[in-house]
Amino acid sequence: MLPNPMPPARDFLEPLLDRAGRSPHALLQLLIAVQHHYHFIPSEAMEVLAAELGVAPLRVKGVVSFYSFLSDAFQGEVVIHVSDNIVDRMQGSRELAAHLCDLLDVPLGQVREDGRVSVHFTSDIGLGDQGPAALVNYLPVTRLTRERVEALARLINARTPLAQWPPEFFRVESIIRRSDVIFRHPVPPGAGLKASLERGGEILPAWEEDLAPSDARRHHLDKGGAETLKELYKSELRGRGGAGFKTAIKWESVRSGKTGGRTVLCNADEGEPGTFKDRVLLAEFPDMVFEGMTLCGHVVGAKKGILYLRQEYFYLLPRLEAVLARRREAGLLGRDILGSGLEFDIEIHLGAGAYICGMESAMIKSIEGRRGVPRQRWPLPVHQGLFRRPTVVNNVETFAKAAVVSHRGGAWFASIGTPQSTGTKLFAVSGDVERPGVYEYPWGVTVREVLRDCGGLDAIGVQLGGPSGTLLNTEAFDRTVCFEDLPSVGTMMVFGPGRDLFEAARNFAAFFRHESCGLCTPCRIGTTLLENYVSKFARGFGSPVDLEEMKGIARTMRTMSHCGLGQTASQHLTDSFERFPAVWEARMGTRDFVPAFDLDGALEEARALTGRTDQEAHLTPAEVRA
Ligand SMILES: Cc1cc2nc3c(=O)[nH]c(=O)nc-3n(C[C@H](O)[C@H](O)[C@H](O)COP(=O)(O)O)c2cc1C
Ligand code: SF4
Repeated sequence: MLPNPMPPARDFLEPLLDRAGRSPHALLQLLIAVQHHYHFIPSEAMEVLAAELGVAPLRVKGVVSFYSFLSDAFQGEVVIHVSDNIVDRMQGSRELAAHLCDLLDVPLGQVREDGRVSVHFTSDIGLGDQGPAALVNYLPVTRLTRERVEALARLINARTPLAQWPPEFFRVESIIRRSDVIFRHPVPPGAGLKASLERGGEILPAWEEDLAPSDARRHHLDKGGAETLKELYKSELRGRGGAGFKTAIKWESVRSGKTGGRTVLCNADEGEPGTFKDRVLLAEFPDMVFEGMTLCGHVVGAKKGILYLRQEYFYLLPRLEAVLARRREAGLLGRDILGSGLEFDIEIHLGAGAYICGMESAMIKSIEGRRGVPRQRWPLPVHQGLFRRPTVVNNVETFAKAAVVSHRGGAWFASIGTPQSTGTKLFAVSGDVERPGVYEYPWGVTVREVLRDCGGLDAIGVQLGGPSGTLLNTEAFDRTVCFEDLPSVGTMMVFGPGRDLFEAARNFAAFFRHESCGLCTPCRIGTTLLENYVSKFARGFGSPVDLEEMKGIARTMRTMSHCGLGQTASQHLTDSFERFPAVWEARMGTRDFVPAFDLDGALEEARALTGRTDQEAHLTPAEVRA
C-alpha cells in the first residue's frame, strides 16, 4: 500500500536538480535521494529525472534495476535489510530474521499489507564484529538478539518514529584491538601536507583546461609534489585494496598524463563480506584518509577528489561532511591550501548496494551515474578514468598510509614489514573468536599470531581476504600474511570447532551469483551453475561427477571471466575441495551421477495436459544417467 497522499516527485526533486546542475552524472545520487525519501523510485520521479537530466528513460530504469538498494516498487515505511554473510548466519541472523518476520506478520521480501514494513536479506553490511546486524531505513542496528528483535517489532507496530528509538540500537563501535604505527601515532591534520609542501620538488604545470581564464597565477603555484613522490617510491607502499599495486607508480602515471581534469578517487566501497577495516578508519581517522587524498592531488596535479562511500556506511556521511568542512576552514582543502596556492577539494558519492562497484572501472561508471558494469581493461583509469581523464583510484587504507609516508618519510615506512610488503596492515577479524574487531600488524604476521591475539586458536579454518580470497586449513596457520606469501585485503573470518564449512561454501556461492553483474557469460552462467551444484550437494544428490564438473566450471571462470569478480568467485570452492575434502564427501549422496531433478517426473504435467503418455517417451534411470 502506497503512502497516501504521496507528495509529488517533481516538488521534491526541483531543489536537488538545481543543486546538481541538472548534470546526467548526478543521476545515481538523485535516485538514492528519491529512494531514501519515498522508500522506492516512483515512475513520476524517473520521468522527471529523464526529462531534466536529458537521459533516456530506459537508462534511468536500467540504473534503478542495477543497484540492490534502489527499487521501483514501494518497500514500506520501514525497510529492513538483514546482513546475510556467513558470520552473521553463524551468530543466528537467519533465525532472528524469521522471528522478526513472524512478529511483524510479514513474509520475507514482501511489504506488509498496510505498507508499514518489509524485511529483506542483503549481502553484508560491514559489521561482522558486532553482528548480527541490519539496516533499518539505511541506518545500522547492531548486536541483534531475540530481545532486540522483539523491541524492534514493537516499535514498528506502534509506529514509533525512528528518531525516538533507543539510541543504543544504532550504536556502531570502532573496535580496535591492536594498534601499531597508524593507530598509535595518527598523522596530525595537515602534518603530511605541510611536509609535502616543504619538500617541494619539480613544479607540475597546471593544464589550461583546469584553469579559470583569470587563473594564470596557478601555473606556478603547485609546489611540486615530486619530492613526495620520491618518498612514496622509497616507502614501497602497495595498495591495500587487493591487488597490491605500487602506489607511487600509479600516482606517477597520472602525474605524467597528457590531459587535465584529473581526479583522485578513494574507494570506500568495502563490499567484500567480512571486511570492515575501512569503516573503522573512516570513523576514527578520517583526517588521515582525506590528507592522503589531498597529498595525492598535490602529487598528480588533480583538483578534485571523490570518496565513493558504500551506502551501508551512509550513517557516516554527516560526520565525514563535517570533517571536510572543518578541513576547509583550517585551510587544508579549498583554493589556497595552507597559503601555497594549491587547490583541491573532496566530495562524497554514495554507492547503492553493488559489490562490483568496488572494482575500479565499475566504480567510475557508478560515479558517472551509470550501471556499475566494469569497462574494458584498457585504457587503464590512470590514463582514461573518470570522464576519460587520468584518475587515481586507491583504497581508504592506502590513502591513510600515504599520509603516514609523507609525515614520517619513505625510508621509515619501508623499515616496517617485509621486503615486498612494507608498513602495516589492518585486519578485520570476525567469526568464532573471543575478540572480534580491527587489528593492526606489520605485514608478515602469521595467521596463528592473529588467531592467538583474537582468541581463535582452536579454529578449524580461516577465510582470509573474504570470499574472493583464500580458505585456509590448520596446516596453513604458520604461513605469513604478506605479498610474498599470503596477500590479503585484511579480512579474517574464523570458523571454530564444529562449524560445517559447507555452509560457508553455500553462502559464498549465493553471494557471487547475486553480485555477478551479468556482463560476461563465464561469470554470469558460471556463478549460477556453481550455486546450483552446491544446492544439489545440500539436498544430498551430489556425486564425484558433480565435483569434477564444478572444478571445470571454476577453471573456465578463472581464465575466461572479464573482471576480478568472476576470476576469483570460484576460488573458495577450489580451496574447499582441496583443503576440506571431507566436507564434500559427507554431502555425497552417491558415487554415481544423479540428476538434480526428476526429468521424467517433470514431464508428467505436460502428459496430463495433453492426455498423452507415450511409453517410448519415458526415461529409464539408466537413460537419465547417460
Ligand atoms: C569485484 C571487486 C571488488 C573490489 N572491491 C574493492 C573495494 O571494496 N575496495 C577497494 O579498495 N578495492 C576493491 N577492489 C579493487 C579495486 O578495483 C582497485 O584495485 C583498488 O581500489 C585500488 O586501490 P589500491 O591500489 O589502493 O589497492 C575490488 C576489485 C574487484 C574485482
Ligand atoms: S566477471 Fe562477472 S562481474 Fe565481472 S564483468 Fe563479467 S559478469 Fe560482470
